[in-house]
Amino acid sequence: MDYHLRLFLSLALLLPCVISIDPLFSVCSTSDDHYFVPDNTFKHNLDKLMFVLANQAPAIGFGLESVGQGHNRVNGLVLCRGDLKSTACSTCIRAADAWISKLCPYKKEATIWFDHCLLRYSNNEFFGELDNSNEFCMSNTLNISTNSVVFHGKVTKLMNKLTMAAHLSPLLFTTGEMKVGESEKLHGLVQCTRDLSGGDCKKCLETAISELATCSHGKKGGRILGGSCNIRYELYPFFEH
Ligand SMILES: *[C@@H]1O[C@H](CO)[C@@H](O)[C@H](O)[C@H]1NC(C)=O
Repeated sequence: MDYHLRLFLSLALLLPCVISIDPLFSVCSTSDDHYFVPDNTFKHNLDKLMFVLANQAPAIGFGLESVGQGHNRVNGLVLCRGDLKSTACSTCIRAADAWISKLCPYKKEATIWFDHCLLRYSNNEFFGELDNSNEFCMSNTLNISTNSVVFHGKVTKLMNKLTMAAHLSPLLFTTGEMKVGESEKLHGLVQCTRDLSGGDCKKCLETAISELATCSHGKKGGRILGGSCNIRYELYPFFEH
């Protein structure tokens, strides 16, 4: 097969597969002056940023980069779920790149969340800052069958334990389990973006835990997704060990 045909075929196979990974949420900047003109320097810098992040991040599950100067400077961050292999991380980042330009066309600031990764970019420098502005709650649709106060006491206990471990770990990420009742087990995950300090990571996770108790009360699973951290619990294993 000649090179161009092969390239065409692999792209044709790749793109629908990447775009079929659906985002959980996305947020675009809302101010009117936050648009860039197609084909200008900002756009070129954004493309370059995505390229750099997609190359740099999969190996370590995290990427942080800035491209360009002055008002055309763009800052970006990607974070893959801490248990992922680099191929799965890479797939998620490519999907995020493809989706974010569709969902937030010509925006100077956007964030997108997936099961497996988070992508943020902005013309404003945001590295190392705790982002409390974007927080989403998702719940498992199934109700628990036991006492919800007791159940959520256990969820909170597990999450607090994971937070204590995660904020001191280099990856700012931890998973763990806790027995509930006779045969059921809670599975939990907490993770912060790695530009945060351990102390800010802890703050972010504690806020998320307090929100989780309200948003997924009585539910078999729940998660809080934010720009700086995310947490999740389920009664089934949803991550790799
Ligand atoms: C879960 O509980 C809520 C409130 O108690 C109820 O309205 C809903 O129908 C229940 N859903 C399921 C799937 O049982």
